Amino acid sequence: MPPRTSRQQFDSQAKHYNAQWNAWSGESLAWLLEKAGCDPSQKWLDVATGAGFTAAAFGPLVSEVTGLDVSEAMLDQARERARASGLANLVFQCGTAEELPFSPEAFDGVVCRLAAHHFLSVPRFLAEACRVLRPGGRLLIADTAEPDGAPEVDAWHNHVEALRDGSHVRNYTFAEWRALVTAAGFAIERLQEVCESVPITLQDWLEKGGCRGQAAGEVRRLFLEAPSEAVRAFSITPMPGGDIRFQWVRIGLSARKADG
Ligand SMILES: C[S@@+](CC[C@H](N)C(=O)[O-])C[C@H]1O[C@@H](n2cnc3c(N)ncnc32)[C@H](O)[C@@H]1O
Repeated sequence: MPPRTSRQQFDSQAKHYNAQWNAWSGESLAWLLEKAGCDPSQKWLDVATGAGFTAAAFGPLVSEVTGLDVSEAMLDQARERARASGLANLVFQCGTAEELPFSPEAFDGVVCRLAAHHFLSVPRFLAEACRVLRPGGRLLIADTAEPDGAPEVDAWHNHVEALRDGSHVRNYTFAEWRALVTAAGFAIERLQEVCESVPITLQDWLEKGGCRGQAAGEVRRLFLEAPSEAVRAFSITPMPGGDIRFQWVRIGLSARKADG
């Protein structure tokens, strides 16, 4: 697909970010909740909240969650989810990760799940996360990532992602995440692989990205001809009937802003 902004991509694909999509990312959400150490006095910011699954999971554990996203159509889904769940402490706002529209030290925690690979500047997002966190506040990130020291896997994976969704920027390696978060002034508490249990199927993944026709055919061909290292890393498995099953590598990262 040609390059698209995240707003264009997610405004047109919002309705596809449903329970099936959330199921592909269930362990990431559980990992974030476990590492968050939420308490009922806290205010959290969910950056790139999308359809609000992460905000809705944090809501019952804290005093307030603000969900920020660049796509109004995704925010509509998030507001509907909050209404349906009876969660009155979720607020949603339009804005970008690279320029957070909040005062310094406004939040106890910042969380961002499966979105940073769309950001035009992760260093800018991390600087902004640091600014809006109180001293000692926690940053939690889960995202699709590349294994370290595997340039062929990295190139193949980022290429198929960009073909499928023109707003994809980059899945970073574990080493890149470590360097980026450290350079932003955070102390890393945990950085590890998080294994998802529900495999993704190629046809569903293409549909969620709005990838059809020639581009979809090209992505399918690249999966069938994937380098053996990528086949191993992502458990790429052709299924009877022609679809293909796989699992992306996910990183879980927990870090703290310096105290005082
Ligand atoms: C896959 S969805 C995120 C899902 C959500 N975080 C969750 O846990 O369910 C990716 C979201 O990132 C948003 N996004 C992409 N780039 C952004 C940016 N620079 N600033 C804010 N939101 C952005 C998109 O609009 C989209 O809603």
